[in-house]
Amino acid sequence: MCGIIGHTGQQATQQFLIEGLKRLEYRGYDSAGVAIQNGSIHLYKKKGNIAALEGYLPEKISGNCGIAHTRWATHGKPNNENAHPHMSYSKRLVMVHNGIIENYQMIKEDLMAKGITFSSDTDSEVLLNLIDWEFSLTHDLIKAIKNALTQVEGSYAIAIIKSDEPNTIYACRNGSPLILGEKDGEYFIASDALAINAFANQIYYPEDKDLAIVHASKGISFMDENGVPKKIESEELVQTNDHAQKKDFEDFMLKEIFEQPDSLRRSFIQPSASSDIDHLVEKVKACNRIIVLGCGTSWHAGLIGKYLIEKLARIPVEVEYASEFRYRHPVIQSSDLVLSISQSGETADTLAANRLARENNAMTLGICNVKRSTLTRETDYQLYLNAGAEIGVASTKAFTSQVSILTQLALFIAKERKEELSKNTMQALEALPAKIETVLKQSEAIKQLALKYALANHFLFIGRGVNYPVALEGALKLKEISYIHAEGYPGAEMKHGPIALIDYSFPTFAIVTDDENRSKMISNIKEIQARNGKVIALIQEGDNETAQVADEVISIPNTMDELIPILSTVPLQLFSYHAAKIRGCNVDQPRNLAKSVTVE
Ligand code: G6P
Repeated sequence: MCGIIGHTGQQATQQFLIEGLKRLEYRGYDSAGVAIQNGSIHLYKKKGNIAALEGYLPEKISGNCGIAHTRWATHGKPNNENAHPHMSYSKRLVMVHNGIIENYQMIKEDLMAKGITFSSDTDSEVLLNLIDWEFSLTHDLIKAIKNALTQVEGSYAIAIIKSDEPNTIYACRNGSPLILGEKDGEYFIASDALAINAFANQIYYPEDKDLAIVHASKGISFMDENGVPKKIESEELVQTNDHAQKKDFEDFMLKEIFEQPDSLRRSFIQPSASSDIDHLVEKVKACNRIIVLGCGTSWHAGLIGKYLIEKLARIPVEVEYASEFRYRHPVIQSSDLVLSISQSGETADTLAANRLARENNAMTLGICNVKRSTLTRETDYQLYLNAGAEIGVASTKAFTSQVSILTQLALFIAKERKEELSKNTMQALEALPAKIETVLKQSEAIKQLALKYALANHFLFIGRGVNYPVALEGALKLKEISYIHAEGYPGAEMKHGPIALIDYSFPTFAIVTDDENRSKMISNIKEIQARNGKVIALIQEGDNETAQVADEVISIPNTMDELIPILSTVPLQLFSYHAAKIRGCNVDQPRNLAKSVTVE
Protein backbone atom coordinates (compact mmCIF):
# COMPACT_ATOMS: atom_id res chain seq x y z
CA MET A 1 0.00 0.00 0.00
CA CYS A 2 1.01 3.58 -0.50
CA GLY A 3 2.83 4.47 -3.67
CA ILE A 4 6.02 6.45 -3.86
CA ILE A 5 7.64 8.14 -6.83
CA GLY A 6 10.69 10.34 -7.17
CA HIS A 7 12.41 12.02 -10.10
CA THR A 8 15.50 14.03 -10.79
CA GLY A 9 17.18 14.90 -14.09
CA GLN A 10 17.24 17.65 -16.64
CA GLN A 11 13.50 18.06 -17.13
CA ALA A 12 10.89 19.58 -14.81
CA THR A 13 9.85 17.16 -12.08
CA GLN A 14 6.21 18.03 -11.52
CA GLN A 15 4.81 16.29 -14.62
CA PHE A 16 6.66 13.04 -13.82
CA LEU A 17 5.50 13.04 -10.22
CA ILE A 18 1.84 13.60 -11.06
CA GLU A 19 1.79 11.04 -13.87
CA GLY A 20 3.61 8.57 -11.62
CA LEU A 21 1.13 9.15 -8.79
CA LYS A 22 -1.78 8.49 -11.13
CA ARG A 23 -0.20 5.19 -12.07
CA LEU A 24 0.34 4.34 -8.42
CA GLU A 25 -3.08 5.41 -7.23
CA TYR A 26 -4.29 1.82 -7.10
CA ARG A 27 -1.97 1.36 -4.10
CA GLY A 28 -3.84 3.92 -1.97
CA TYR A 29 -5.85 7.06 -2.48
CA ASP A 30 -6.79 8.62 0.84
CA SER A 31 -4.32 11.50 0.60
CA ALA A 32 -1.40 12.51 -1.57
CA GLY A 33 1.42 15.00 -1.77
CA VAL A 34 4.49 16.21 -3.63
CA ALA A 35 7.71 17.90 -2.56
CA ILE A 36 9.93 19.62 -5.10
CA GLN A 37 13.49 20.83 -4.51
CA ASN A 38 14.03 24.20 -6.08
CA GLY A 39 16.65 25.92 -3.95
CA SER A 40 14.38 25.16 -1.01
CA ILE A 41 11.66 22.53 -0.72
CA HIS A 42 8.11 23.26 -1.88
CA LEU A 43 5.72 20.90 -0.16
CA TYR A 44 2.05 20.34 -1.04
CA LYS A 45 -0.20 17.68 0.44
CA LYS A 46 -3.89 17.12 0.49
CA LYS A 47 -6.50 14.75 1.84
CA GLY A 48 -8.24 12.86 -0.98
CA ASN A 49 -7.15 11.27 -4.22
CA ILE A 50 -4.69 12.46 -6.86
CA ALA A 51 -7.36 14.54 -8.59
CA ALA A 52 -7.85 16.48 -5.33
CA LEU A 53 -4.09 17.06 -5.07
CA GLU A 54 -3.90 18.18 -8.69
CA GLY A 55 -6.66 20.70 -8.10
CA TYR A 56 -4.72 22.08 -5.13
CA LEU A 57 -1.27 22.31 -6.76
CA PRO A 58 -0.06 25.46 -8.50
CA GLU A 59 -0.02 24.89 -12.24
CA LYS A 60 3.73 25.01 -12.48
CA ILE A 61 6.20 24.32 -9.71
CA SER A 62 9.66 24.72 -11.14
CA GLY A 63 12.37 22.32 -10.05
CA ASN A 64 14.02 19.20 -11.41
CA CYS A 65 14.09 17.05 -8.28
CA GLY A 66 11.21 15.83 -6.16
CA ILE A 67 9.34 13.06 -4.41
CA ALA A 68 5.64 12.25 -4.14
CA HIS A 69 3.32 9.84 -2.37
CA THR A 70 -0.20 8.45 -2.50
CA ARG A 71 -1.32 7.11 0.86
CA TRP A 72 -3.30 4.23 2.30
CA ALA A 73 -3.55 5.10 5.98
CA THR A 74 -2.02 2.81 8.57
CA HIS A 75 -0.98 5.06 11.48
CA GLY A 76 -3.12 8.18 11.68
CA LYS A 77 -6.32 9.19 9.95
CA PRO A 78 -6.34 10.29 6.32
CA ASN A 79 -5.91 14.08 6.63
CA ASN A 80 -3.58 16.80 5.40
CA GLU A 81 -1.19 16.47 8.37
CA ASN A 82 -0.74 12.73 8.04
CA ALA A 83 -0.34 12.88 4.25
CA HIS A 84 3.18 12.43 2.87
CA PRO A 85 5.75 13.82 2.14
CA HIS A 86 6.70 14.65 5.74
CA MET A 87 9.08 17.42 6.66
CA SER A 88 11.47 16.76 9.55
CA TYR A 89 11.52 18.83 12.72
CA SER A 90 14.53 20.87 11.56
CA LYS A 91 12.86 21.32 8.14
CA ARG A 92 16.00 20.20 6.34
CA LEU A 93 14.71 16.75 5.28
CA VAL A 94 11.56 15.69 3.48
CA MET A 95 10.61 12.03 3.13
CA VAL A 96 8.02 9.66 1.66
CA HIS A 97 7.54 6.19 3.17
CA ASN A 98 5.73 2.99 2.31
CA GLY A 99 5.65 0.36 5.04
CA ILE A 100 5.19 0.22 8.80
CA ILE A 101 7.64 1.11 11.55
CA GLU A 102 6.58 -1.25 14.31
CA ASN A 103 8.62 0.22 17.18
CA TYR A 104 7.70 3.81 16.33
CA GLN A 105 6.06 4.54 19.69
CA MET A 106 9.21 3.84 21.68
CA ILE A 107 11.37 5.86 19.28
CA LYS A 108 8.87 8.70 19.31
CA GLU A 109 8.89 8.91 23.11
CA ASP A 110 12.67 8.91 23.07
CA LEU A 111 12.80 11.71 20.50
CA MET A 112 10.15 13.71 22.34
CA ALA A 113 12.23 13.45 25.51
CA LYS A 114 15.00 15.12 23.48
CA GLY A 115 12.64 18.01 22.72
CA ILE A 116 11.69 16.99 19.20
CA THR A 117 8.14 17.87 18.20
CA PHE A 118 5.84 16.06 15.78
CA SER A 119 3.14 17.36 13.51
CA SER A 120 1.46 14.10 12.48
CA ASP A 121 0.30 10.80 13.98
CA THR A 122 2.34 8.72 11.56
CA ASP A 123 5.06 6.18 12.15
CA SER A 124 6.74 7.62 9.03
CA GLU A 125 7.40 11.00 10.63
CA VAL A 126 9.05 9.17 13.55
CA LEU A 127 11.50 7.50 11.17
CA LEU A 128 12.18 10.80 9.44
CA ASN A 129 12.82 12.66 12.69
CA LEU A 130 15.09 9.87 13.84
CA ILE A 131 17.12 10.28 10.64
CA ASP A 132 17.23 14.04 11.20
CA TRP A 133 18.34 13.52 14.81
CA GLU A 134 21.10 11.19 13.64
CA PHE A 135 22.08 13.80 11.05
CA SER A 136 22.43 16.42 13.78
CA LEU A 137 24.97 14.07 15.42
CA THR A 138 26.89 12.87 12.35
CA HIS A 139 26.45 15.74 9.83
CA ASP A 140 26.48 13.00 7.19
CA LEU A 141 23.11 12.06 5.68
CA ILE A 142 24.15 8.60 4.50
CA LYS A 143 25.46 7.72 7.95
CA ALA A 144 22.34 9.22 9.53
CA ILE A 145 20.05 7.11 7.33
CA LYS A 146 22.05 3.95 8.06
CA ASN A 147 22.14 4.64 11.83
CA ALA A 148 18.42 5.33 11.96
CA LEU A 149 17.49 2.27 9.93
CA THR A 150 19.41 -0.03 12.27
CA GLN A 151 17.13 1.18 15.09
CA VAL A 152 13.77 0.56 13.42
CA GLU A 153 11.76 -2.64 13.22
CA GLY A 154 9.30 -3.15 10.39
CA SER A 155 9.24 -2.53 6.68
CA TYR A 156 10.06 0.50 4.62
CA ALA A 157 10.68 1.92 1.20
CA ILE A 158 11.75 5.51 1.65
CA ALA A 159 12.90 8.42 -0.50
CA ILE A 160 14.43 11.55 1.00
CA ILE A 161 15.36 14.98 -0.34
CA LYS A 162 17.31 17.64 1.51
CA SER A 163 16.50 21.36 1.55
CA ASP A 164 20.07 22.47 0.88
CA GLU A 165 21.10 19.68 -1.50
CA PRO A 166 19.62 20.12 -4.96
CA ASN A 167 19.39 17.40 -7.62
CA THR A 168 19.68 14.51 -5.18
CA ILE A 169 17.35 11.82 -3.81
CA TYR A 170 18.31 9.16 -1.27
CA ALA A 171 16.30 5.95 -1.25
CA CYS A 172 16.33 2.69 0.66
CA ARG A 173 14.11 -0.34 1.07
CA ASN A 174 13.56 -3.22 3.46
CA GLY A 175 10.60 -5.49 2.92
CA SER A 176 8.61 -2.91 0.93
CA PRO A 177 8.96 -2.65 -2.84
CA LEU A 178 11.22 -0.07 -4.48
CA ILE A 179 12.65 0.12 -7.98
CA LEU A 180 14.73 2.68 -9.83
CA GLY A 181 14.72 3.56 -13.50
CA GLU A 182 16.33 5.82 -16.05
CA LYS A 183 16.18 7.04 -19.62
CA ASP A 184 18.18 9.74 -21.41
CA GLY A 185 19.42 11.48 -18.27
CA GLU A 186 16.11 11.31 -16.35
CA TYR A 187 16.17 9.21 -13.17
CA PHE A 188 13.29 7.72 -11.24
CA ILE A 189 12.46 5.98 -7.98
CA ALA A 190 9.11 4.23 -7.58
CA SER A 191 7.15 1.56 -5.77
CA ASP A 192 6.76 -0.42 -8.98
CA ALA A 193 7.64 -0.50 -12.66
CA LEU A 194 4.11 0.46 -13.68
CA ALA A 195 4.69 3.94 -12.23
CA ILE A 196 7.59 4.70 -14.55
CA ASN A 197 7.16 2.53 -17.59
CA ALA A 198 6.04 5.46 -19.72
CA PHE A 199 9.25 7.39 -18.99
CA ALA A 200 12.07 4.92 -18.33
CA ASN A 201 13.63 2.17 -20.42
CA GLN A 202 16.07 0.75 -17.86
CA ILE A 203 15.09 -0.56 -14.45
CA TYR A 204 17.08 -1.50 -11.32
CA TYR A 205 15.95 -3.84 -8.57
CA PRO A 206 17.80 -3.07 -5.34
CA GLU A 207 17.88 -5.65 -2.56
CA ASP A 208 16.71 -5.12 1.00
CA LYS A 209 18.83 -2.56 2.86
CA ASP A 210 20.64 -1.30 -0.26
CA LEU A 211 20.88 2.49 -0.35
CA ALA A 212 20.46 4.30 -3.67
CA ILE A 213 21.69 7.81 -4.33
CA VAL A 214 20.11 9.40 -7.37
CA HIS A 215 21.70 12.51 -8.81
CA ALA A 216 20.42 14.64 -11.70
CA SER A 217 23.75 14.58 -13.55
CA LYS A 218 25.74 11.76 -11.94
CA GLY A 219 22.97 9.19 -12.26
CA ILE A 220 22.18 6.31 -9.90
CA SER A 221 24.66 4.71 -7.52
CA PHE A 222 24.13 2.03 -4.89
CA MET A 223 25.77 0.95 -1.67
CA ASP A 224 25.05 -2.03 0.55
CA GLU A 225 24.04 -1.86 4.19
CA ASN A 226 27.67 -1.49 5.26
CA GLY A 227 28.13 1.52 3.02
CA VAL A 228 30.21 -0.41 0.47
CA PRO A 229 29.54 0.72 -3.14
CA LYS A 230 27.60 -1.91 -5.04
CA LYS A 231 26.96 -2.52 -8.73
CA ILE A 232 23.41 -3.42 -9.70
CA GLU A 233 22.90 -4.21 -13.36
CA SER A 234 19.92 -2.54 -14.97
CA GLU A 235 17.39 -4.51 -16.98
CA GLU A 236 15.43 -3.40 -19.97
CA LEU A 237 12.02 -1.99 -19.11
CA VAL A 238 9.39 -2.46 -21.76
CA GLN A 239 7.79 0.91 -22.20
CA THR A 240 4.03 1.16 -22.35
CA ASN A 241 1.77 4.12 -22.42
CA ASP A 242 -1.66 2.55 -22.33
CA HIS A 243 -1.87 2.26 -18.57
CA ALA A 244 -4.38 4.92 -17.70
CA GLN A 245 -6.79 4.38 -20.52
CA LYS A 246 -10.26 3.16 -19.78
CA LYS A 247 -10.95 3.06 -23.51
CA ASP A 248 -14.73 3.18 -24.02
CA PHE A 249 -15.50 2.00 -20.50
CA GLU A 250 -16.75 4.05 -17.60
CA ASP A 251 -14.45 2.37 -15.11
CA PHE A 252 -11.29 0.26 -15.11
CA MET A 253 -13.18 -2.53 -13.36
CA LEU A 254 -15.74 -2.79 -16.15
CA LYS A 255 -13.00 -2.63 -18.77
CA GLU A 256 -11.15 -5.43 -17.00
CA ILE A 257 -14.29 -7.56 -16.69
CA PHE A 258 -14.84 -7.18 -20.44
CA GLU A 259 -11.18 -7.94 -21.20
CA GLN A 260 -11.55 -11.47 -19.84
CA PRO A 261 -11.95 -13.30 -23.15
CA ASP A 262 -8.56 -11.88 -24.17
CA SER A 263 -6.84 -12.09 -20.80
CA LEU A 264 -7.98 -15.71 -20.51
CA ARG A 265 -6.49 -16.52 -23.92
CA ARG A 266 -3.21 -14.99 -22.80
CA SER A 267 -3.17 -17.29 -19.77
CA PHE A 268 -2.97 -20.39 -21.95
CA ILE A 269 0.44 -21.96 -21.54
CA GLN A 270 2.06 -21.90 -24.96
CA PRO A 271 3.56 -25.02 -26.59
CA SER A 272 6.85 -23.07 -26.79
CA ALA A 273 6.99 -23.22 -22.98
CA SER A 274 6.31 -26.96 -22.91
CA SER A 275 9.83 -28.05 -21.93
CA ASP A 276 9.79 -25.64 -18.95
CA ILE A 277 6.35 -26.89 -17.98
CA ASP A 278 7.37 -30.53 -18.33
CA HIS A 279 10.31 -29.85 -16.04
CA LEU A 280 8.09 -28.07 -13.51
CA VAL A 281 5.45 -30.80 -13.66
CA GLU A 282 8.06 -33.51 -12.98
CA LYS A 283 9.21 -31.54 -9.95
CA VAL A 284 5.64 -31.08 -8.72
CA LYS A 285 4.86 -34.77 -9.15
CA ALA A 286 7.79 -35.57 -6.89
CA CYS A 287 6.28 -33.47 -4.08
CA ASN A 288 4.27 -35.08 -1.30
CA ARG A 289 2.02 -32.13 -0.75
CA ILE A 290 1.17 -28.73 -2.20
CA ILE A 291 0.64 -25.80 0.13
CA VAL A 292 -1.14 -22.91 -1.60
CA LEU A 293 -0.72 -19.42 -0.14
CA GLY A 294 -2.50 -16.21 -1.03
CA CYS A 295 -4.66 -13.35 0.24
CA GLY A 296 -8.06 -12.03 -0.80
CA THR A 297 -9.16 -13.00 -4.27
CA SER A 298 -5.90 -14.86 -4.90
CA TRP A 299 -6.70 -17.08 -1.93
CA HIS A 300 -10.08 -17.90 -3.48
CA ALA A 301 -8.35 -18.88 -6.73
CA GLY A 302 -6.07 -21.12 -4.63
CA LEU A 303 -9.10 -22.84 -3.11
CA ILE A 304 -10.44 -23.63 -6.58
CA GLY A 305 -6.95 -24.92 -7.39
CA LYS A 306 -7.18 -27.32 -4.44
CA TYR A 307 -10.46 -28.80 -5.71
CA LEU A 308 -9.00 -29.26 -9.19
CA ILE A 309 -5.52 -30.49 -8.31
CA GLU A 310 -6.84 -33.01 -5.79
CA LYS A 311 -9.59 -34.21 -8.12
CA LEU A 312 -7.47 -34.45 -11.25
CA ALA A 313 -3.88 -34.87 -10.10
CA ARG A 314 -4.49 -36.63 -6.73
CA ILE A 315 -1.81 -34.66 -4.88
CA PRO A 316 -2.89 -33.44 -1.42
CA VAL A 317 -3.32 -29.67 -1.34
CA GLU A 318 -3.66 -27.35 1.64
CA VAL A 319 -4.75 -23.76 1.11
CA GLU A 320 -3.73 -21.19 3.67
CA TYR A 321 -4.10 -17.48 4.22
CA ALA A 322 -0.51 -16.30 3.92
CA SER A 323 -1.00 -14.07 6.97
CA GLU A 324 -1.95 -17.05 9.18
CA PHE A 325 0.58 -19.45 7.73
CA ARG A 326 3.54 -17.19 8.43
CA TYR A 327 2.84 -16.94 12.15
CA ARG A 328 1.33 -20.30 13.09
CA HIS A 329 4.54 -22.32 13.14
CA PRO A 330 3.47 -24.56 10.25
CA VAL A 331 5.13 -27.86 9.48
CA ILE A 332 6.94 -27.31 6.17
CA GLN A 333 8.91 -30.13 4.62
CA SER A 334 11.50 -30.18 1.87
CA SER A 335 9.16 -32.50 -0.03
CA ASP A 336 6.45 -29.78 -0.12
CA LEU A 337 5.69 -27.49 -3.00
CA VAL A 338 4.68 -24.08 -1.69
CA LEU A 339 2.63 -22.35 -4.36
CA SER A 340 2.10 -18.63 -3.76
CA ILE A 341 -0.57 -16.84 -5.75
CA SER A 342 -0.45 -13.06 -6.05
CA GLN A 343 -1.62 -10.76 -8.80
CA SER A 344 0.82 -8.04 -7.77
CA GLY A 345 3.61 -10.22 -6.43
CA GLU A 346 4.04 -7.59 -3.70
CA THR A 347 1.54 -8.59 -0.99
CA ALA A 348 3.53 -8.42 2.25
CA ASP A 349 1.98 -11.49 3.90
CA THR A 350 2.35 -13.65 0.80
CA LEU A 351 5.99 -12.64 0.41
CA ALA A 352 6.76 -13.35 4.07
CA ALA A 353 5.01 -16.74 3.97
CA ASN A 354 6.92 -17.64 0.80
CA ARG A 355 10.20 -16.67 2.49
CA LEU A 356 9.33 -18.94 5.40
CA ALA A 357 8.83 -21.80 2.93
CA ARG A 358 12.23 -21.11 1.39
CA GLU A 359 13.91 -21.05 4.78
CA ASN A 360 12.47 -24.53 5.32
CA ASN A 361 13.80 -25.76 1.96
CA ALA A 362 10.43 -26.29 0.31
CA MET A 363 10.25 -25.91 -3.45
CA THR A 364 8.49 -22.64 -4.31
CA LEU A 365 6.30 -21.67 -7.24
CA GLY A 366 4.77 -18.23 -7.82
CA ILE A 367 1.67 -17.60 -9.88
CA CYS A 368 1.83 -13.94 -10.63
CA ASN A 369 0.68 -11.23 -13.02
CA VAL A 370 3.38 -8.61 -12.55
CA LYS A 371 6.64 -9.62 -14.17
CA ARG A 372 9.77 -9.06 -12.09
CA SER A 373 7.70 -8.40 -8.99
CA THR A 374 9.24 -9.44 -5.68
CA LEU A 375 7.42 -12.79 -5.61
CA THR A 376 8.71 -13.77 -9.02
CA ARG A 377 12.26 -12.96 -7.91
CA GLU A 378 11.91 -14.99 -4.73
CA THR A 379 10.47 -18.26 -6.06
CA ASP A 380 12.14 -21.24 -7.73
CA TYR A 381 9.54 -21.40 -10.51
CA GLN A 382 7.07 -18.92 -11.92
CA LEU A 383 3.91 -19.10 -13.96
CA TYR A 384 2.61 -15.81 -15.38
CA LEU A 385 -0.98 -14.73 -15.90
CA ASN A 386 -0.15 -12.33 -18.76
CA ALA A 387 -3.45 -10.63 -17.96
CA GLY A 388 -2.08 -7.11 -18.51
CA ALA A 389 -2.14 -4.38 -15.88
CA GLU A 390 -5.11 -4.70 -13.53
CA ILE A 391 -5.97 -1.26 -12.18
CA GLY A 392 -9.41 -1.74 -10.57
CA VAL A 393 -8.82 -2.45 -6.91
CA ALA A 394 -11.23 -5.38 -6.95
CA SER A 395 -9.51 -8.18 -8.84
CA THR A 396 -11.45 -9.57 -11.83
CA LYS A 397 -9.44 -10.64 -14.87
CA ALA A 398 -6.49 -11.68 -12.70
CA PHE A 399 -8.78 -14.09 -10.84
CA THR A 400 -10.05 -15.90 -13.93
CA SER A 401 -6.48 -16.12 -15.24
CA GLN A 402 -5.24 -17.50 -11.91
CA VAL A 403 -7.92 -20.19 -12.05
CA SER A 404 -6.98 -20.90 -15.66
CA ILE A 405 -3.31 -21.39 -14.76
CA LEU A 406 -4.20 -23.63 -11.80
CA THR A 407 -6.51 -25.67 -14.02
CA GLN A 408 -3.77 -26.12 -16.61
CA LEU A 409 -1.29 -27.08 -13.91
CA ALA A 410 -3.70 -29.72 -12.61
CA LEU A 411 -4.25 -31.03 -16.15
CA PHE A 412 -0.53 -31.18 -16.92
CA ILE A 413 0.10 -33.16 -13.74
CA ALA A 414 -2.82 -35.49 -14.52
CA LYS A 415 -1.92 -35.86 -18.21
CA GLU A 416 -0.41 -39.32 -18.13
CA ARG A 417 -3.06 -40.87 -15.89
CA LYS A 418 -6.06 -39.12 -17.44
CA GLU A 419 -5.01 -38.56 -21.00
CA GLU A 420 -8.48 -38.34 -22.50
CA LEU A 421 -9.89 -36.06 -19.81
CA SER A 422 -6.85 -33.78 -19.94
CA LYS A 423 -7.10 -33.45 -23.70
CA ASN A 424 -10.83 -32.75 -23.64
CA THR A 425 -10.56 -30.24 -20.81
CA MET A 426 -7.75 -28.38 -22.55
CA GLN A 427 -9.89 -28.16 -25.67
CA ALA A 428 -12.85 -26.96 -23.61
CA LEU A 429 -10.62 -24.37 -21.96
CA GLU A 430 -9.68 -23.00 -25.34
CA ALA A 431 -13.40 -22.60 -26.10
CA LEU A 432 -14.06 -20.64 -22.92
CA PRO A 433 -13.19 -17.11 -24.16
CA ALA A 434 -16.08 -17.30 -26.65
CA LYS A 435 -18.39 -18.49 -23.87
CA ILE A 436 -17.32 -15.58 -21.66
CA GLU A 437 -18.34 -13.28 -24.52
CA THR A 438 -21.83 -14.80 -24.28
CA VAL A 439 -21.95 -14.10 -20.55
CA LEU A 440 -20.77 -10.52 -21.07
CA LYS A 441 -23.65 -9.94 -23.47
CA GLN A 442 -25.95 -10.40 -20.47
CA SER A 443 -24.52 -7.35 -18.71
CA GLU A 444 -27.67 -5.28 -19.29
CA ALA A 445 -29.94 -8.05 -17.98
CA ILE A 446 -27.71 -8.44 -14.93
CA LYS A 447 -27.95 -4.69 -14.39
CA GLN A 448 -31.75 -4.97 -14.32
CA LEU A 449 -31.42 -7.67 -11.68
CA ALA A 450 -29.04 -5.48 -9.71
CA LEU A 451 -31.57 -2.63 -9.87
CA LYS A 452 -34.06 -4.90 -8.16
CA TYR A 453 -31.69 -6.06 -5.40
CA ALA A 454 -29.08 -3.32 -4.94
CA LEU A 455 -30.86 -1.85 -1.93
CA ALA A 456 -30.54 -5.05 0.09
CA ASN A 457 -28.25 -4.62 3.08
CA HIS A 458 -27.16 -8.24 3.15
CA PHE A 459 -26.54 -11.03 0.66
CA LEU A 460 -25.73 -14.70 1.02
CA PHE A 461 -23.78 -16.58 -1.67
CA ILE A 462 -23.87 -20.36 -1.63
CA GLY A 463 -22.29 -23.08 -3.71
CA ARG A 464 -21.07 -26.63 -3.28
CA GLY A 465 -17.88 -28.29 -4.47
CA VAL A 466 -15.83 -26.06 -6.70
CA ASN A 467 -18.67 -23.54 -6.66
CA TYR A 468 -18.09 -22.89 -2.96
CA PRO A 469 -14.93 -20.81 -3.58
CA VAL A 470 -16.86 -19.09 -6.38
CA ALA A 471 -19.50 -18.16 -3.78
CA LEU A 472 -16.75 -16.76 -1.54
CA GLU A 473 -15.40 -14.70 -4.41
CA GLY A 474 -18.89 -13.48 -5.36
CA ALA A 475 -19.50 -12.32 -1.79
CA LEU A 476 -16.09 -10.64 -1.53
CA LYS A 477 -16.61 -8.77 -4.80
CA LEU A 478 -20.04 -7.52 -3.72
CA LYS A 479 -18.92 -6.35 -0.29
CA GLU A 480 -15.70 -4.68 -1.41
CA ILE A 481 -17.19 -2.47 -4.09
CA SER A 482 -20.86 -1.98 -3.13
CA TYR A 483 -20.47 -2.13 0.69
CA ILE A 484 -23.41 -4.55 0.86
CA HIS A 485 -22.65 -7.04 3.60
CA ALA A 486 -22.23 -10.42 1.91
CA GLU A 487 -21.19 -13.86 3.09
CA GLY A 488 -20.09 -16.84 1.05
CA TYR A 489 -20.93 -20.28 2.41
CA PRO A 490 -20.85 -23.91 1.33
CA GLY A 491 -24.44 -24.83 0.50
CA ALA A 492 -24.65 -27.50 3.19
CA GLU A 493 -23.21 -25.31 5.93
CA MET A 494 -25.97 -22.77 5.45
CA LYS A 495 -28.11 -24.80 7.83
CA HIS A 496 -25.52 -24.37 10.57
CA GLY A 497 -25.95 -20.65 11.04
CA PRO A 498 -26.63 -18.35 8.10
CA ILE A 499 -30.16 -19.65 7.59
CA ALA A 500 -31.06 -17.89 10.84
CA LEU A 501 -30.51 -14.59 9.04
CA ILE A 502 -32.76 -15.32 6.09
CA ASP A 503 -35.96 -13.34 5.65
CA TYR A 504 -37.65 -11.42 2.82
CA SER A 505 -34.94 -8.71 2.95
CA PHE A 506 -31.94 -11.07 2.79
CA PRO A 507 -31.47 -12.42 -0.76
CA THR A 508 -29.25 -15.34 -1.73
CA PHE A 509 -27.15 -16.04 -4.80
CA ALA A 510 -27.13 -19.81 -5.36
CA ILE A 511 -24.58 -21.21 -7.79
CA VAL A 512 -26.15 -24.36 -9.17
CA THR A 513 -24.31 -26.24 -11.88
CA ASP A 514 -24.98 -29.55 -13.48
CA ASP A 515 -22.89 -31.82 -11.25
CA GLU A 516 -23.37 -34.26 -8.38
CA ASN A 517 -24.42 -31.40 -6.07
CA ARG A 518 -27.23 -30.03 -8.20
CA SER A 519 -30.21 -31.65 -6.47
CA LYS A 520 -28.80 -30.73 -3.06
CA MET A 521 -28.47 -27.12 -4.16
CA ILE A 522 -32.10 -27.17 -5.28
CA SER A 523 -33.04 -28.35 -1.78
CA ASN A 524 -31.06 -25.43 -0.33
CA ILE A 525 -33.00 -23.03 -2.55
CA LYS A 526 -36.27 -24.47 -1.26
CA GLU A 527 -35.10 -24.13 2.34
CA ILE A 528 -34.33 -20.45 1.79
CA GLN A 529 -37.64 -19.78 0.07
CA ALA A 530 -39.51 -21.52 2.90
CA ARG A 531 -38.11 -18.71 5.10
CA ASN A 532 -39.27 -16.00 2.65
CA GLY A 533 -35.80 -15.46 1.22
CA LYS A 534 -35.46 -14.61 -2.47
CA VAL A 535 -33.01 -16.66 -4.54
CA ILE A 536 -31.08 -15.66 -7.64
CA ALA A 537 -29.81 -18.87 -9.17
CA LEU A 538 -26.77 -19.00 -11.40
CA ILE A 539 -27.44 -22.00 -13.62
CA GLN A 540 -26.17 -23.68 -16.75
CA GLU A 541 -28.16 -23.26 -19.95
CA GLY A 542 -30.98 -25.76 -20.21
CA ASP A 543 -31.35 -26.35 -16.46
CA ASN A 544 -35.12 -25.86 -16.48
CA GLU A 545 -35.64 -27.58 -13.16
CA THR A 546 -33.59 -25.03 -11.22
CA ALA A 547 -34.94 -22.19 -13.36
CA GLN A 548 -38.48 -23.11 -12.30
CA VAL A 549 -37.62 -23.18 -8.62
CA ALA A 550 -35.53 -19.99 -8.33
CA ASP A 551 -36.95 -16.46 -8.10
CA GLU A 552 -34.45 -15.13 -10.61
CA VAL A 553 -32.06 -16.81 -12.99
CA ILE A 554 -28.80 -16.01 -14.73
CA SER A 555 -27.56 -18.71 -17.05
CA ILE A 556 -24.09 -19.49 -18.32
CA PRO A 557 -23.13 -21.68 -21.28
CA ASN A 558 -22.34 -25.34 -20.71
CA THR A 559 -18.78 -26.47 -20.28
CA MET A 560 -16.87 -29.18 -18.43
CA ASP A 561 -17.34 -29.26 -14.65
CA GLU A 562 -13.68 -28.40 -14.06
CA LEU A 563 -14.05 -25.14 -15.97
CA ILE A 564 -17.28 -23.88 -14.46
CA PRO A 565 -15.59 -21.51 -11.95
CA ILE A 566 -14.07 -19.39 -14.71
CA LEU A 567 -17.46 -18.91 -16.35
CA SER A 568 -19.62 -18.63 -13.23
CA THR A 569 -17.45 -15.89 -11.73
CA VAL A 570 -18.12 -13.45 -14.57
CA PRO A 571 -21.87 -12.81 -13.92
CA LEU A 572 -21.07 -12.37 -10.22
CA GLN A 573 -18.49 -9.72 -11.11
CA LEU A 574 -21.06 -7.96 -13.30
CA PHE A 575 -23.73 -8.11 -10.60
CA SER A 576 -21.36 -6.56 -8.05
CA TYR A 577 -20.28 -3.91 -10.52
CA HIS A 578 -23.84 -2.87 -11.38
CA ALA A 579 -25.02 -2.99 -7.76
CA ALA A 580 -22.10 -0.76 -6.74
CA LYS A 581 -22.79 1.74 -9.54
CA ILE A 582 -26.49 1.84 -8.66
CA ARG A 583 -25.48 2.63 -5.06
CA GLY A 584 -23.21 5.44 -6.28
CA CYS A 585 -19.95 3.80 -5.23
CA ASN A 586 -16.52 4.40 -6.73
CA VAL A 587 -15.89 0.89 -8.04
CA ASP A 588 -12.26 1.47 -9.02
CA GLN A 589 -11.30 2.94 -5.67
CA PRO A 590 -13.50 1.42 -2.99
CA ARG A 591 -13.21 3.06 0.41
CA ASN A 592 -10.53 1.78 2.80
CA LEU A 593 -9.06 -0.67 0.28
CA ALA A 594 -5.91 -0.74 -1.80
CA LYS A 595 -4.91 -2.99 -4.61
CA SER A 596 -1.55 -3.98 -3.33
CA VAL A 597 -1.30 -4.62 0.40
CA THR A 598 2.37 -4.14 1.12
CA VAL A 599 1.98 -3.85 4.89
CA GLU A 600 0.92 -6.54 7.36
C1 G6P B 1 -5.97 -6.68 -1.94
C2 G6P B 1 -6.74 -6.41 -3.21
C3 G6P B 1 -7.39 -7.71 -3.71
C4 G6P B 1 -6.34 -8.80 -3.87
C5 G6P B 1 -5.53 -8.99 -2.59
C6 G6P B 1 -4.32 -9.90 -2.83
O1 G6P B 1 -6.84 -6.99 -0.91
O2 G6P B 1 -7.74 -5.41 -2.99
O3 G6P B 1 -8.03 -7.47 -4.93
O4 G6P B 1 -6.98 -9.99 -4.19
O5 G6P B 1 -5.02 -7.74 -2.13
O6 G6P B 1 -3.47 -9.26 -3.74
P1 G6P B 1 -2.42 -10.03 -4.64
O7 G6P B 1 -1.75 -8.94 -5.43
O8 G6P B 1 -1.47 -10.70 -3.69
O9 G6P B 1 -3.14 -10.98 -5.48
